[in-house]
Amino acid sequence: MLATSSIVATFVGLTGWARAATSSQLGATTAMTVPPQAVLLDPLAINVLGPNGSFRASATEFFNPTNTTPPFFQVFHPDFLKILGPNANIRAVATDPTLLFAHEAPIWVPKTDEVFFASAGGAMVAIDQYQVSKISLKDVASAIEASGPGVTPVNVNATKIDLPETIQATNGGTGLFNGNLVLVTDGNGPLPPSLALVYPEPPYNATVLLDNFFGRQFNSLNDVKIYPGSNKLFFTDSTYGYLYQLRPPPLLPNQVYRFDPDTGSVRVVADGFDKCNGLAFTRDGKTAYVGDSGSNDGLLGINQTKPATIYAFDIDAKSMAFTNRRVFAYIDTGIPDGIQLDAAGNVYAGTGDGAQVWGQDGTLLGKFFLGTVSSNLVFAGDGRLVILADTAIYLAKIAATANTLSFP
Ligand SMILES: *[C@@H]1O[C@H](CO)[C@@H](O)[C@H](O)[C@H]1NC(C)=O
Ligand SMILES: *[C@@H]1O[C@H](CO)[C@@H](O)[C@H](O)[C@H]1NC(C)=O
Ligand SMILES: *[C@@H]1O[C@H](CO)[C@@H](O)[C@H](O)[C@H]1NC(C)=O
Ligand SMILES: *[C@@H]1O[C@H](CO)[C@@H](O)[C@H](O)[C@H]1NC(C)=O
Repeated sequence: MLATSSIVATFVGLTGWARAATSSQLGATTAMTVPPQAVLLDPLAINVLGPNGSFRASATEFFNPTNTTPPFFQVFHPDFLKILGPNANIRAVATDPTLLFAHEAPIWVPKTDEVFFASAGGAMVAIDQYQVSKISLKDVASAIEASGPGVTPVNVNATKIDLPETIQATNGGTGLFNGNLVLVTDGNGPLPPSLALVYPEPPYNATVLLDNFFGRQFNSLNDVKIYPGSNKLFFTDSTYGYLYQLRPPPLLPNQVYRFDPDTGSVRVVADGFDKCNGLAFTRDGKTAYVGDSGSNDGLLGINQTKPATIYAFDIDAKSMAFTNRRVFAYIDTGIPDGIQLDAAGNVYAGTGDGAQVWGQDGTLLGKFFLGTVSSNLVFAGDGRLVILADTAIYLAKIAATANTLSFP
């Protein structure tokens, strides 16, 4: 934790200064209403900590110089206030401290207003301890209504769904795709990782679309997205199954694949990653983002000289291979996990301290600061952001509108 009394004093002073507005970028917030759970941090005030500064020793320590109790909005740029809007709030809506029930693969189903998600696994976890669950956002709305004014946490029940045994250790998801959840799985022991469709209502029947690359098993599939306006599925494959002792040693590089369900064609579109993780496309289909969480070596620990970086790519018109790779953002805390965009093209990622948000030019705009790891998040329609944090699910009500993830 980074905090000295002098820095806190500086920031408290600056916060007041920024709210009152003078000449800096954050000073431009004068015309904007700052939501009560927001803390403004002017980057110019944190550039120099000085000889007695309290520096962070690692990427797992938080950067919370105002010592604010999470959850809150940490604002580094006025554009984050536009994303939040004047009435933004954030609170936990489901909590179970005994279980990593809300880890990955968040998918919103508009018809039922439910969000599906997968639990975390771990070393040698019995397969029935992996679970896919859902929460009802109608139940969340009722619970919030009943809780009265303020932002007190509520706790709605998550419901585990029964999936066929072909769905082993779900780690990523998107959709809807032709009305189905799209899931990717780690596999388990000798059982292969797979790309599958699951019907989002009882009986939750599943169809596996792909479980090999010309006969070779994937390492452990990590995340998946649909290319905008198409039926092409892009997914990442990394060694986390092996690094968490769930899978045998990897047989393929960690890379990004494209799958065409019409023709069955499967091909590599990007490589050269330490461990590729989350991915996302801009809604015009011109840019792809891929996170490299290389610095997280699973049970071997953290090596923070390795990547914790989101890369941006162009997409080759002919082959759909990812070209012109460039750094988009290096993550200051933890690693980039799931990546999502809003309608304006801002980039959101689950990271080591919650969810972080960048403008299209790669400027860190702000954080949904949870003080704990978030592996992924999803817009549940416009203005509702559901953030998974393993033992808890948070709902942020904000001004930003959703990017379309469901195709066709
Ligand atoms: C840093 O701490 C030392 C020892 O307490 C003190 O003498 C010095 O004035 C401090 N420097 C600053 C810039 O605060
Ligand atoms: C949540 O689940 C518990 C245990 O199954 C049950 O007692 C309780 O009524 C449920 N609450 C709601 C709001 O459904
Ligand atoms: C689920 O079962 C229905 C009825 O048999 C079938 O039409 C549908 O394609 C199945 N969906 C998946 C994802 O397997
Ligand atoms: C961390 O990663 C770097 C780059 O791959 C490597 O040279 C170094 O040996 C690693 N350190 C540890 C402690 O594993």
